[in-house]
Amino acid sequence: MTTRKPIRKAVFPVAGLGTRFLPATKAIPKELLPIVDRPLIQYAVDEAREAGIEQMIFVTGRGKTAIVEHFDVAYELESTMEERGKDMSVLDPTRATPGDIITVRQQVPLGLGHAIWCARAIVGDEPFAILLPDEMMVGDAGARGGCMKQMVEAYSEVGGNLISVLEVPHDEVSSYGVIDPGEERGNLTEVKGLVEKPPVDEAPSNKIVSGRYILQPEVMRTLETQGKGAGGEIQLTDAMARMIGKQPFNAVTFEGRRFDCGSKLGFVEATLALALEREDMGDQVRAMAQRLLAQ
Ligand code: G1P
Repeated sequence: MTTRKPIRKAVFPVAGLGTRFLPATKAIPKELLPIVDRPLIQYAVDEAREAGIEQMIFVTGRGKTAIVEHFDVAYELESTMEERGKDMSVLDPTRATPGDIITVRQQVPLGLGHAIWCARAIVGDEPFAILLPDEMMVGDAGARGGCMKQMVEAYSEVGGNLISVLEVPHDEVSSYGVIDPGEERGNLTEVKGLVEKPPVDEAPSNKIVSGRYILQPEVMRTLETQGKGAGGEIQLTDAMARMIGKQPFNAVTFEGRRFDCGSKLGFVEATLALALEREDMGDQVRAMAQRLLAQ
């Protein structure tokens, strides 16, 4: 195994308006909507931490400051809980090492590629991860951990650029970035091409980019000159496509489940699936679901 620069930083684009969840997201960032009792952003940050990543860079926008509050010390809450002898461990996942939560602003919503580029000064000259919190990735029991952990493992073997992929029904490809797949080796597939939101009949495969990336810092330079693409937005996929051939590019097929929490249906599915698996409530939720279905 070659020694590579470790992946220490992760970028979370969280500036989106969350219009699909209105009116819930009028005053609350969609990333703070809870799946059972943890906000969406918490699952993504936990996944990054599990992969050994230390610095979390949030690309935020107006009205999104509550995301940062979530990872701060809540002095009044904590001292009141302590006085009342409450279990404080529920707050453990929200604790961050001072300096490890960093925010930058994306002032104008120009697209995912632009959001990532906004973090260039903090990413600096090292490889970094990107996690889209809308995509909730849950590692299979017995698998090698969460999605980012599986990717970091693959990265230590092959280096270069990595994206996570999964297969969707062919008629759904137009909502995603799609890869042109090359040779396969275990859970790795060579990426020969990438296209953002292609028409169904022009899609090179049904393997879609599922919201997890490990990229070399050169992508920031590529984004610098990236014109508008699908939907009139500056697309990360287009910048990555331009790096193919210059640097190794591979896809990791994630061993686990993915919930599309950017859609209401996916959000409800994730809530039910996770609630059913919880030791403290799974049995009751199952009984409740059966009762409701019998009506
Ligand atoms: C973004 C990416 C796309 C990716 C998708 C995963 O699209 O541009 O390549 O497949 O996330 O959710 P968006 O959902 O922001 O339109």
